[in-house]
Amino acid sequence: MPRVSISEVAPRDGLQSIGPFVPTETKIALVRALHAAGVRRMEVGSFVSPKAVPQMADTAAVFQAALALDGLECTALVPNRKGFEAALAAGAHRVGLFMSVTESHNKANVNRSCADSFADLSAIVRDALAAGRKVRFNLSCCFHCPFEGVVPERDALDWVERVIALDPWIEVAICDTTGNAAPDQVARVVGHAVKAWPAPDGSNRIAFHGHDTYGMGVANVAAAWNAGCDVIDSAAGGLGGCPFAPGATGNVATEDVAWLFRRMGVETGLDWPRLLAAADLAAGVPGGLPGGRMRAVPAAR
Ligand code: HMG
Ligand code: MG
Repeated sequence: MPRVSISEVAPRDGLQSIGPFVPTETKIALVRALHAAGVRRMEVGSFVSPKAVPQMADTAAVFQAALALDGLECTALVPNRKGFEAALAAGAHRVGLFMSVTESHNKANVNRSCADSFADLSAIVRDALAAGRKVRFNLSCCFHCPFEGVVPERDALDWVERVIALDPWIEVAICDTTGNAAPDQVARVVGHAVKAWPAPDGSNRIAFHGHDTYGMGVANVAAAWNAGCDVIDSAAGGLGGCPFAPGATGNVATEDVAWLFRRMGVETGLDWPRLLAAADLAAGVPGGLPGGRMRAVPAAR
């Protein structure tokens, strides 16, 4: 049976833009529920300025709990060296770097130019690998920017190629930050990257990170999978959104993605009833704006 690797981002992307502070114990309960549902890869939190994203201020404490869970690969999202050092100190297995391919979103998100982000993050890639950590490099706004509109596919792919050239093994995520992409675009951009830049052993190293703002989330995941991409980001309960991407809503819901793959005969490793329980927990977080469909479908229970 073919197998997809789902990287769960609810504890980070899902919670980051929620206004009321989610107590650390609630975050840890969510991490544990997701792990109990079979999640083995998770963005546990981010090390960013607490002034920029107050919700992520307790990431180190959430990491402590997450690292105790059997077989869970824990990723820390970081924008700069200070975040990288915090990720190392927290014991992250994987460092998730991020920048945008458009100047205006990068400026809004991390207050610097794309060139400055790339220079800083390139050095961090080297140091993270030297420290024995895995690396994921997220490229935001690969299809559409909240400030600049549609992003030419060639521009996005040029950035993917630059990041790929940093190291033969790092994983690169093509991100639809605003949920504006359509499946044909995802098939073209992700498909090109998968074919053009495999890992040295021929395996895929392109991931797809989609938001569901316009209801295209699951269709876009199917398009990415059909284009050869077997690493998919999603958030239980369909929570999420970059606080610096106006209008963008939640990530594609993990329960919707799990249902898609179940219907397509693709193994996710997820336990269906436990996943729905974890998704209920995520969707019930006060202040969150849940999305997704399957949680609410009685026949799926
Ligand atoms: P800045 O103000 O330009 O940074 O912000 P600075 O270097 O001038 O530092 C300002 C203050 O922040 C200083 O503290 C630093 O120490 C501190 P102060 O002296 O004022 O007390 N600082 C930090 N603190 C903790 N962790 C750090 C860190 N770095 C500096 N790593 C900065 C620049 C990048 C820090 C800020 O803009 C920031 O934190 N931005 C985070 C934005 C963010 O988290 N966005 C959401 C995640 S990305 C996303 O959602 C997209 C994704 O899902 C993919 C997709 O969908 O496209 C991944
Ligand atoms: Mg995102």
